[in-house]
Amino acid sequence: MPTEVALELERAVSHRRTFAIISHPDAGKTTLTEKLLLYGGAIHLAGAVKSRRAERHATSDWMKLEQERGISVTSSVMQFEYDGFAVNLLDTPGHEDFSEDTYRTLVAADSAVMLLDNRKGVEERTRQLFEVCKKRRTPIFTFVNKCDRVGEDSLKLLSDVEADLGIDCHPITWPIFHGNAFVGVYDRRLDQVHLFGKDEHHGATRAIAQRLPLHSADTRARVGDEPYAQLLHDIELLDAAGHPFDRDAVMRGELSPVFFGSALTNFGVEPFLREFLELAPPPLPRESTTGIIEPTNPSFTGFVFKIQANMDPRHRDRIAFVRICSGRFVAGLEVTQVRTGKKVRLSAPQQFMARERTAVEEAWPGDVIGVIDRGNLRIGDTLAEDGNPEFTGIPRFPPEHFARVVLIDPMKRKQLDAGLRQLTEEGAAQVFFTSPTEVSGPTPLIGAVGMLQFDVMLHRLEHEYGVRCRLEKIAGRYPRWVTGPKDAIERVGRERGRNILYDAFGAPLILFEDSWGLRWALERETSVKFHDSAP
Ligand code: G4P
Repeated sequence: MPTEVALELERAVSHRRTFAIISHPDAGKTTLTEKLLLYGGAIHLAGAVKSRRAERHATSDWMKLEQERGISVTSSVMQFEYDGFAVNLLDTPGHEDFSEDTYRTLVAADSAVMLLDNRKGVEERTRQLFEVCKKRRTPIFTFVNKCDRVGEDSLKLLSDVEADLGIDCHPITWPIFHGNAFVGVYDRRLDQVHLFGKDEHHGATRAIAQRLPLHSADTRARVGDEPYAQLLHDIELLDAAGHPFDRDAVMRGELSPVFFGSALTNFGVEPFLREFLELAPPPLPRESTTGIIEPTNPSFTGFVFKIQANMDPRHRDRIAFVRICSGRFVAGLEVTQVRTGKKVRLSAPQQFMARERTAVEEAWPGDVIGVIDRGNLRIGDTLAEDGNPEFTGIPRFPPEHFARVVLIDPMKRKQLDAGLRQLTEEGAAQVFFTSPTEVSGPTPLIGAVGMLQFDVMLHRLEHEYGVRCRLEKIAGRYPRWVTGPKDAIERVGRERGRNILYDAFGAPLILFEDSWGLRWALERETSVKFHDSAP
C-alpha cells in the first residue's frame, strides 16, 4: 500500500467513531439522534427524523411494516461529521421493531451510549442491551436525559445505576438547577460552567451556551448564590467520594463516563457530543480465526451484521450491511466470502444518511456499507480481500417469544421449509424443532426477540413464498441453550411441562416457565450448563 494511502487509513481510523444508542422506549433516543444530527450539520432543523416517531406505533398492518422497513433501511446508519470526527451512529430498532437486529447492531459498534430517563433510571430494555455490551466489554457512556424536568436526585440515580448494572460511573458533566429549572452543566474535564439560554425555536436549533470558569465572582453571580454553593458542594463530593476517571476502565467497559442533559431543549448535548467523541474509542482491533486484525491493516475485511429484504417482494435481492473492520474500501472491490470461499465483487455499495441512500466510492474501518446481495450472504459472514480470516462473535441471541407454525395448506410444506430457511438466514427470526432429528418434522417453531418479527414472517411467507400459515404462541419467556449429559437435559427439559426445542443446528434449548424454575435448575443441575446465547 502506498505510504499516502497508509497515512490516510491511519487518519481515517483515528478520527472515526462508530456507536449505537441503547435505551428503553421513550427515554428519548429519537430526539437525541435528531439533535446529534443537528449538531453534526446533517440536518438543519430538528424534526426531520421526527416523522419516524409517528411510525413507531407499529401495528400489524402490513403497509406500516413495509414503510417501517423502508425507513429502517435508509436510517440504519447515520453518518455525520463533528469537530473533525467522522461519526457513524448505528440505529438500534427499539419499539415494536425490537429484534435480534438490535443486538447484532451492538456487535458492529465500537461503543454504546446508554440513554436514561432521569425519572426512571435503568429500565428493562436498557438492562437487556447493557448485558450484551458488557459481555463484549464495549465501552459504555451514559446520557441522563430529560433534565429539563424534575427527576431523581442525580447522585441517587447514579448509585442506582451502579448497583443495578454493576458498572462504575464517573460524571463528566454535572447538572446545575436553579430551583427546579435546569440552567446548565459543569464540565469537570474543562473545569467550566456552561449556562444555557433557550432558543426561540423550541429546541429546533442549537442551544445558546455561555462558557464560564468555575471559580469566578461573575459565574457565581450568573448561576445564583444557592445553586452555585450547591454545585461546589456536589463537585467536592464527586471528587472526594466518586470513582476517579480511568480511561482503561472505560475501554474495558467497567467505568461509564456520565453526562446530563436534555435532548428536547438541547441543553448539555454539545458538551456531551464533544467529550464523548474525544473519549470514545476509534474502530477497535477485532478477533478473527487467523488472529487479531488491526483496523489499520491495509487489507480490507468486514462482516455482515444485518440483512434487509427488499421492500418490493418481486425482487428477491436484499441489502447486506457490512461493518468494515480493516483496510480501505473502494467500490467494485473483489473480496472472498470466507465461509464459502466464493469471490464477491462489491459493486454499487451504498451508504446511508438519515433518509437518503448515496452511492459510496470509498469507505474506511468503522463505516458501514450496504451491498446488494442475491441471497448468498448470511449474517456473520466475513468478507476479506486477502486470506481467509473469519470474525468470531456474532452470537445467536435467545428469542423471547416462541410460536408453532401451522400450515393452512399442508401441501405447501416444501415452500414453507424453503421460506423459513431463507428468512432465518437473513436473521428475520430463528427456527426450532421439537426433536433433534426431525428437522422437517410436523411442527417447526419460530422464535423472535420482538413480536413484530412474527408479523413480518407471516406476511413474507405468504407474499414471497406463497405459504399461508398461522402461529400458535407458546409460553416460555426464559429460554436457555443447554449442554451436558443427555439424560440430565431431558430430565430438566421435561419437568413441569417445559419444552425442549432444537435449533437449526440441533442444539437443545429449554424453555423455562419463570425465573424461579430457571434458578432452581441452575442450582440443582450442576452437570448441565445453561447458556444465554447459542453455544
Ligand atoms: P424514544 O425514541 O426513546 O422512544 O423517545 P423519543 O425521542 O420519541 O421521546 C419520547 C418522549 O420523550 C417524547 O415525548 C419526547 O418529546 C420526550 N423527550 C425526549 N427528550 C426529552 C427531554 O430531554 N425532555 C423532555 N421533557 N422530554 C423529552 P412525546 O410526548 O411522546 O412525543 P412528542 O409529542 O413530544 O413528539
